[in-house]
Amino acid sequence: PATATKSEARAEFVVVANRLPVDLDRAEDGTRRWTQSPGGLVSALEPFLRSRKGAWVGWPGVPDVEVDEFSDDGLVLHPVTLTSTDVRDYYEGFSNATLWPLYHDVVARPIFDRGWWESYVRVNRRFAEASAAVAGEGATVWVQDYQLQLVPSMLRELRPDLRIGFFLHIPFPPVELFMQMPWRAEIVRGLIGADLVGFHRPGGAQNFLWLARQLIGLEPSRGSVGVRSRPGMVQVGDRTVRVGAFPISIDAAGLDSLARTKAVADRAAQVRSDLGNPETILLGVDRLDYTKGIDLRLQAFHELLQEGRVKPENVTFVQLATPSRERVEHYQRMRGEIEQMVGRINGEFARVGHPVVHYLHQSVNRTELAAFFSAADVMVVTPLRDGMNLVCKEYVACRHDLGGALVLSEFAGAAAELSSAFLVNPHDLDGVKNALEQAITLDPAEGRRRMRALRRQVLTHDVDRWARSFLEALGSETAA
Ligand code: ADP
Ligand code: G6P
Repeated sequence: PATATKSEARAEFVVVANRLPVDLDRAEDGTRRWTQSPGGLVSALEPFLRSRKGAWVGWPGVPDVEVDEFSDDGLVLHPVTLTSTDVRDYYEGFSNATLWPLYHDVVARPIFDRGWWESYVRVNRRFAEASAAVAGEGATVWVQDYQLQLVPSMLRELRPDLRIGFFLHIPFPPVELFMQMPWRAEIVRGLIGADLVGFHRPGGAQNFLWLARQLIGLEPSRGSVGVRSRPGMVQVGDRTVRVGAFPISIDAAGLDSLARTKAVADRAAQVRSDLGNPETILLGVDRLDYTKGIDLRLQAFHELLQEGRVKPENVTFVQLATPSRERVEHYQRMRGEIEQMVGRINGEFARVGHPVVHYLHQSVNRTELAAFFSAADVMVVTPLRDGMNLVCKEYVACRHDLGGALVLSEFAGAAAELSSAFLVNPHDLDGVKNALEQAITLDPAEGRRRMRALRRQVLTHDVDRWARSFLEALGSETAA
């Protein structure tokens, strides 16, 4: 019956991503339920797509399950099955132990494995075929992220009638690093199958244009790429491919109004009192990923305590960390290191009933998250490299009271937009410590001035604007 419905109800607008916006969760008693998938891609795209009533092609998050297509509040979800071997080789292997570290400045060493690459090609073809079956005549298909870089060309071969966009949610690396990739030309050829290839930053777009010339001999335009303007162009046969920069964002108005509710305000007060009403709450919120610099911020906090620059009875650090990619070795190692640091800091500075670091290896719901953001005096976002980082924008969107301060890594894409944050180089530990101390002792009037400027940026550049600017550059009717 799934195929019968497919041919009748082919979609005009299709998002293709490795994950569906929901994950199939199998509880211990064997019951199944759907929960929101982790990560920024889903946080950003889900509210946007719900308002468009499109289709979404993706993996339900567990191996070896066949799920029929289903509809969820106007959004039609088309599950793609991954076997345990696909998960090991395509997802944990090539996507998350090759591409992820390579594209994040090799902060961990990428592994180049031929078997993983073959699996990546096979699974990309499966996604291309699934998308070709779902998309109606002349539809717009928007392919997402590093797991699916071959889909644009594969899909174009199957369905030349489609308008195809591609957006990369993670950084596109410097060309010297990209050149390490044994299958570098194949990846550039995969992406060039799109009508529009989008990155967060102009630098990523420029790198890609250079590679298109060097690796596959195309003749890209030479002007500099702007933010949401002046995309680069490459002629591929009779097609013109555009290459542009579109910094992603959040549902800012939605979070702003959630943060204004009594439920969130009450919960924020409760959190503060549960923590023992410290003068200052520092907060980190991340997927537990080695790119996020969770260890660095804990080390900075530890040294501030040791040097007596912050007092354990006045300052509490809360770190929320969503479990992520738990079978990949680097993630396992990082988790061990972080948990050891938390133990060490508490061992030295906690009193009975009053830990100085509260560490939750858990995912929390939106209301709870908004309450933590509202309660936090200093938000600490210190990735070594991050495509955008939505957490810092979410924090700003929740601070309608103009309270709080943001310490933000220069190496997050968001730093280009959030210049009123305390910007830090996460590799410079003394710099991070100074910024934390400045944020903790910030004069309230100066804090309000900074937060007002941050909010002006975040509230006027929301995810809807991001999606519209991308789809307009793609020339998609859906932009109207
Ligand atoms: P990434 O996409 O690399 O995970 P982003 O900062 O862009 O990083 O997006 C992370 C998303 O996941 C945000 O929407 C954030 O609110 C959410 N998130 C991160 N940690 C948690 C957590 N512990 N509980 C709930 N949501 C979380
Ligand atoms: C980042 C990536 C997404 C990914 C998410 C969660 O946001 O850009 O593509 O979905 O992390 O990671 P996971 O591996 O759990 O899908």
